[in-house]
Amino acid sequence: MRDNARIVQRPDSADLLAWYDRNARELPWRVPPAASRAGVLPDPYRVWLSEVMLQQTSVAAVIGYFEDFTSRWPRIEALAAADDAEVMAAWAGLGYYARARNLLRCARKVSDEFGGVFPDQADALQKLPGIGPYTAAAIAAIAFGRAETVVDGNVERVMARLFALTDPLPGVKPSLRRAAAALTPAKRAGDHAQAVMDLGATICKVGSPRCGVCPWRGACRSEAMGIASELPRRMPKTKKPVRNGVVFVVRRTDGGLLLERRPARGLLGGMLGWPGYGWDGTDHLPVPIAGDWRVLPVEIRHSFTHFHLRLEIRFLEVSADCRPQSGQFIAPREFRAVDLPTLMRKVYDVLPDRQLEGAWFG
Ligand code: ADE
Repeated sequence: MRDNARIVQRPDSADLLAWYDRNARELPWRVPPAASRAGVLPDPYRVWLSEVMLQQTSVAAVIGYFEDFTSRWPRIEALAAADDAEVMAAWAGLGYYARARNLLRCARKVSDEFGGVFPDQADALQKLPGIGPYTAAAIAAIAFGRAETVVDGNVERVMARLFALTDPLPGVKPSLRRAAAALTPAKRAGDHAQAVMDLGATICKVGSPRCGVCPWRGACRSEAMGIASELPRRMPKTKKPVRNGVVFVVRRTDGGLLLERRPARGLLGGMLGWPGYGWDGTDHLPVPIAGDWRVLPVEIRHSFTHFHLRLEIRFLEVSADCRPQSGQFIAPREFRAVDLPTLMRKVYDVLPDRQLEGAWFG
C-alpha cells in the first residue's frame, strides 16, 4: 500500500459526464452525447433490445446481433409478429436462450397490451418478461431519463475502486450499489450510467486500470492507496463440476439431418438441437433409430454457467427414406448451421464428410 493518507476529492458525476462527452463509445443503440445533452432520447425499443442482449454478453458480441435484429424487426410490432423459430434462429450463438423466449413474450405483451409503448418507470418495466431490476433501471435511465441507478459488473468494479471498498464480492454488493446510487445525477442519468460502463470497459479495466487518464483520478481512493488493480476482491470461486453427455446425429444419404426442437424450458430451451441425453440432466435414452452407430473420435467441450460439459457424438448414416419416431429430418436446402446454438454447432462442425454436403451448409 502506498501513501494511503493522500487526500482525494469527492467524485462528481459532472467530471465523468465531461469525459463521456468527449469519449463515449459509438454504439448503435445510443444517442451521441451532443444530441443527448440537447434532450434527444433513444428509441425505447432499441434500448430494451440492446439491454436484454447485453445481459451476460459483451458489447463486441452484441453489436452484430443488434444490427441484424433491428434491420429485420425495426419496431416492436414487427418483432411481436415474428415467427418464434425465426427469432430463436436469429438469436443462435448469443447464448442464454431464455432471453430470446422472454424477448418475444415481452414484445407481444408491450405490443398487445400497451399499444407498443414501453412503460417509462422502472417498477412497471420490471413487471415485463425478461426485465429484472438491472434492465428496468437501465431502460428507465437511458430511454426515459429517469434518475435510476444502473449497476452491472463494470459499475461494481468502478465503485469498489473509487471508494476502496475492499470486502469481497458478492457480500460487498449492497455497499457498491449505495455508492453508485449516491453518484447518480438527477439529470442525464442515462448518460451517467453509460459513462460509468464506458469508464469500466475502457479505463477502469479488470486487470490493468489506466488510472493516468481517468477523469475520476483525483477522487479515487484505491488509486491513492495503490491497490486499484486488486479490486474488487472476490471470494474464491468453487470449481464447476464436469458433466458428461451424448448426442445422436443421424444423417440421411440425401444430406438430411435429424434435429429436434428442444422443450421451451431448460437448457437451450426452444432451440434446435441433436437428440441426446445426460448433458442437460436427462436420463439415458435409447438410440433414436436402430443401426450401425459409430462413436466419433472427438470429444466436444463446452462450458455452461454452472458446469463444464464433455460430449460424446454417436453418428449414424441412414437411407433417404428413413422416417424418425421423433424429431424431424431437415433437408440440406432448409438447414442453416448458423441457426444452431453454439454447443450444437460445435457438434455439426466436426461431422465427417461435410464436404459431401455441398454448399448448402452455411
Ligand atoms: N452494457 C450494458 N448496457 C450497456 C450500454 N448501454 N452501453 C455499454 N455497455 C453496456
